[in-house]
Amino acid sequence: MRVRIAERAGFCYGVRRALSIVERAVNEHRGERIYTLGPIIHNPQAVQMLKERMGVEPISSLDEAEGGVLIIRSHGVPPALIERARAKGLKVIDATCPFVKRAQNKARQLAEEGYQVVIFGEKEHPEVIGILGHLPDGRAYVVETPEEIDGLPPMRRVGVIFQTTQEMRSFGDMLMKLLLKSEELKIHNTICHAIRDQQAAARRLAEEADVMLVVGGRNSGNTRRLVQICRDAGAKSYHIETADEIDPSWLKGAELVGVAAGASTPDFIIEGVLERLKSMGAEVEGRLKRSP
Ligand code: F3S
Repeated sequence: MRVRIAERAGFCYGVRRALSIVERAVNEHRGERIYTLGPIIHNPQAVQMLKERMGVEPISSLDEAEGGVLIIRSHGVPPALIERARAKGLKVIDATCPFVKRAQNKARQLAEEGYQVVIFGEKEHPEVIGILGHLPDGRAYVVETPEEIDGLPPMRRVGVIFQTTQEMRSFGDMLMKLLLKSEELKIHNTICHAIRDQQAAARRLAEEADVMLVVGGRNSGNTRRLVQICRDAGAKSYHIETADEIDPSWLKGAELVGVAAGASTPDFIIEGVLERLKSMGAEVEGRLKRSP
């Protein structure tokens, strides 16, 4: 049995940047409490490690913070939330990914130019909630399926942006439907290149592999999407958080096992999966490369 790791797997630029901001904040604000609003990355093992080793506390609402430093994670937040945090006396450090910032700015710009903003993304996703908060009136249509576009009223000028981690492939039909509903359609491609490359690499590998192991938090939408991409490409695909979850029966008869990992999966977890596969007699081709 051979094992191959996808050419792009694991931490993206924005996640690496957010984690180094956390590390710097811990060093510069010794003795103060450090919070992140929501887990800093969608990976329970990494969040637990940050809590144990550096005392970084994830909170789910500002009410839980009692003085100290609040780090805004890579998904971003509505500006009003930052104002509330400052009004509460918290020092705010913004680790919003620059690609997410670009999506926020493009959405605001479209609204200011008079376009009806449509966001292709998940309604409850924190990034989408943050983008909505950047619109002057906070209003946009968020659509996930072609059927939802059928339900929209006719519109004159429509401006589209995408949640950064969406998969571009699925949007052809949706854009065509929107075009038929509008007189003018302006599209900003805000899908992040790191995700595009990672999805393309997972798809290529899944087309060759018999079995795909996709490593990442179950709360990571990006990892769940990779699992779906690998299944669509024809490989038997399993979502695992850690090496212990590998069931040897999945690999029976497989000649090539592919390993892909979401943008919030730390290297030590991917290495753990490769080690476990080696201990099961697999020969690992290549090495884990960092995403640019
Ligand atoms: Fe940023 Fe793209 Fe990662 S938007 S957080 S670099 S997935």
